[in-house]
Amino acid sequence: MLISAIVAVSENNVIGRDGHLPWHLSADLKRFKAITTGHSIILGRKNYDDIGRPLPNRTNYVLTRQENFQAPGCIVCSSLEAALAKAEAAGETECFIIGGAAVYREAMPKVKKLYLTKVLSNVEGDVFFPEWGEGWRMLSEEKFPSDEKNDFETLFQVWERD
Ligand SMILES: NC(=O)c1ccc[n+]([C@@H]2O[C@H](COP(=O)([O-])OP(=O)(O)OC[C@H]3O[C@@H](n4cnc5c(N)ncnc54)[C@H](OP(=O)(O)O)[C@@H]3O)[C@@H](O)[C@H]2O)c1
Repeated sequence: MLISAIVAVSENNVIGRDGHLPWHLSADLKRFKAITTGHSIILGRKNYDDIGRPLPNRTNYVLTRQENFQAPGCIVCSSLEAALAKAEAAGETECFIIGGAAVYREAMPKVKKLYLTKVLSNVEGDVFFPEWGEGWRMLSEEKFPSDEKNDFETLFQVWERD
C-alpha cells in the first residue's frame, strides 16, 4: 500500500489558523476530492472536527486518543499504525494522510508520495507543515491563478521518493 500525503501549504509553511483552513481555494478542494475519492484517508481528530462529517466515497480513519470518541461514518483509531494496518488489511492501494499538523508530523517519515499545493503567499496561522525528510523528486507542477473563488495563486506539485 502506497502511503501518500496531501496538503496545501503557504510560503511561510502555514497550513491552518484557529482550527480551520486559512484560505478559500475552490480549485484545490476540487483537486483534493478528485485525488482522494475511492481511497482511504487518515485524519486527526481536530481536522475531523473542522470538517464535521465523513468525506463521502472514501474510507475515513479518524485518529484520537480519547476512548469512546464517536465519529459516525468513520473508523476511529487510537494510533496511526492501527489506521494504516486496517487500510492495508482492507486491500487499499493508496492511503492518504490528510492532516492536520500533528498527523503530518508523525506520518511524514512513512510518506512516499506528496500532493502539495503551494499557496503563493505568506499567510498568518498557528499550525505548520513539518520537514519532509530526504530524497524527494518532483514529478509534476501546474500553476493556477487566483480569482473570485481562489484567494491566492497556487502551484500544484506532485513529489515522490523511494
Ligand atoms: N492546509 C491543509 O492542507 C490542511 C490539512 C488538514 C488540516 N489543516 C489544518 O490543520 C489544523 C489541525 O491540525 P492540528 O495539528 O491542530 O490537529 P490534527 O492533527 O487534525 O488533530 C490532532 C488530534 O488528532 C489525534 N491524534 C493525532 N495523532 C494521533 C495518534 N498518533 N494517535 C491517536 N490520536 C492522534 C489527537 O486527538 P485527541 O485530542 O482527540 O486525542 C490529536 O489531538 C486545522 O487548522 C486544519 O484546518 C490544514
